[in-house]
Amino acid sequence: MKKLFFMMLAGLMVMACTSKTQTKQEEEPAKKVLVLYYSVTNTTKQMADYIQQQTGADIEAISPVNAYSTVYEELIKRSQEEIQGNVLPELNALKHNPADYDIIFLGYPIWMGTYAQPIKTLLANIDFKGKTVVPFSTSGSSGIKQSVDDLKKAIPGAQIPECVGVRSSLMDKMPATVDRVLISLGLKEGQNEVLADYSAQHEPTADETAIFEAAISTYPMLNGTKAVSVGSRTTSMGTDYKFVGEANGSKMDIYITKENGDAAPYFTAVDR
Ligand SMILES: Cc1cc2nc3c(=O)[nH]c(=O)nc-3n(C[C@H](O)[C@H](O)[C@H](O)COP(=O)(O)O)c2cc1C
Repeated sequence: MKKLFFMMLAGLMVMACTSKTQTKQEEEPAKKVLVLYYSVTNTTKQMADYIQQQTGADIEAISPVNAYSTVYEELIKRSQEEIQGNVLPELNALKHNPADYDIIFLGYPIWMGTYAQPIKTLLANIDFKGKTVVPFSTSGSSGIKQSVDDLKKAIPGAQIPECVGVRSSLMDKMPATVDRVLISLGLKEGQNEVLADYSAQHEPTADETAIFEAAISTYPMLNGTKAVSVGSRTTSMGTDYKFVGEANGSKMDIYITKENGDAAPYFTAVDR
């Protein structure tokens, strides 16, 4: 009798598991995810690998037929010539077909304010219509915004929902930044934090000016930049600031985060 009871219980548990799985599959077929990225010095590759590990996606590096030099001066020279001459570097054929995927993470280093030139070739040759394309980037200081604007123009038929740019000097914060996006896309479990808009711009207070100066002091290219105005928002991590800075008559948006506690503020992006 006891044995029969346990057999019935086991049977019920199997049925429960099966029907749960079936219901989930019926409701939401698993999305096929591909991580495509280009990286010369492996910074963007770190981000691509992290996204792959977290999502179990397929992954592939974009590879130019004529590989770019990793010698900085040579890399700058070639990329400048290609950008100015609108030369599209030839790419090796992809092993994965983007047409087979629902979500494509597209990663690149920022070159001269936007996506690296090999991405331009990719966009000209692959049809992303109807796909969800999630851009991610690494850079010295530039934000991802300009490249996303360019991407929207280059592949108007794609959905571009969330994006994430990380400065190469802040790669220790990359997993948390990426996680927020993965959670918002339903690709990772966790508390979905919907970030508020920044408050209206106002003249910085003395405290806000001190935060601005501390954050930019570590980056010589921003030396002499003055904070003209600022808006902020509170997050679970601390406070984000969007400053309008001015240097040599040009204005730029400078994003700064001050985490809760005593940690020094740091800037996360500059949009010029
Ligand atoms: C040709 C070239 C142009 C660059 N242009 C910018 C730029 O406009 N803004 C910026 O913040 N960083 C710029 N960088 C820095 C790279 O975006 C940054 O080092 C990036 O993390 C490199 O990624 P990777 O290691 O995946 O190649 C440039 C680097 C190179 C080589």
